[in-house]
Amino acid sequence: MMKHLFKFVLTLAFVLSFSTAHAAEDAVMPPDMDWPHEGIFGTYDQNALQRGYQIYRENCSACHAMKYMSYRNLADIGFTEAEIKTIAAEYMVQDGPNDDGEMFERSGKPFDRFNSPYPNEQAARYANNGAMPPDLSLIVKAREHGEDYIYGLLTGYKDAPADETLADGQYWNEYMLGHKIAMPPPLADGQITYSNGDSASLEQAAADVTQYLAWAAEPNLNARKKMGMKVILFLLLLTGLLYASKKKIWRDQK
Ligand code: HEC
Repeated sequence: MMKHLFKFVLTLAFVLSFSTAHAAEDAVMPPDMDWPHEGIFGTYDQNALQRGYQIYRENCSACHAMKYMSYRNLADIGFTEAEIKTIAAEYMVQDGPNDDGEMFERSGKPFDRFNSPYPNEQAARYANNGAMPPDLSLIVKAREHGEDYIYGLLTGYKDAPADETLADGQYWNEYMLGHKIAMPPPLADGQITYSNGDSASLEQAAADVTQYLAWAAEPNLNARKKMGMKVILFLLLLTGLLYASKKKIWRDQK
């Protein structure tokens, strides 16, 4: 029995040491950022989400779809109904068939899904040197280290080390697995001007668009945390009441 246990522990130790050594080799830990929506009391910063959406719309949406998002979802981050109508109407959407059996184009409506930059995967790859820009709806959940990784990726472009060669259309990124990425650096200092006239640094723009993507992947985080707080308050109150009634019931039983 002891012998088997010993063997098992030894095997486990071996497997673990191997897998961690392997992981340490390719992936670089992204910066550990403080996000306003982290922790039990953290909630999304609505202004950051709106700025982040602006960056997605003006920049990332040229290559990346967000197929799980509809324009009306933007109401959650403080856009008014009129603003949402205006945003949606800037896109043309294929609809149909009509009574004659024809597909037709119309301008977008709040209930439409976000416009996709390419009609299909082949077109997306063709336009990007064979690489596929992934859908960003759930990307924060789909990558280890979530927000920290996305922020790291957007700010992590470097010159390639001298002993590495990059193919045409490849860039060196500190945090991408394997470091070679087919996405040109999408953000730079001063490239985005916010609606209040401020121009964003690279770090600011990266942090804002990352928070927007975190919200897209988990839109009900604020509501969930609020509910969690209510449940905790309720349980505390209940504990107090139960303790008081226990005291009362047992008071005379000395
Ligand atoms: C010119 C087109 C283009 C633009 C603009 C662009 N991307 Fe990309 N992006 C790509 C391509 C292509 C890939 C796939 C890269 C690869 O697999 O090597 C990619 C990959 C990604 C990935 C996944 C990386 C991984 O871990 O696999 C993320 C996250 C991302 N982009 C975020 C963004 C954000 C945020 C923006 C806007 C600030 C943006 N991208 C703008 C083309 C683009």
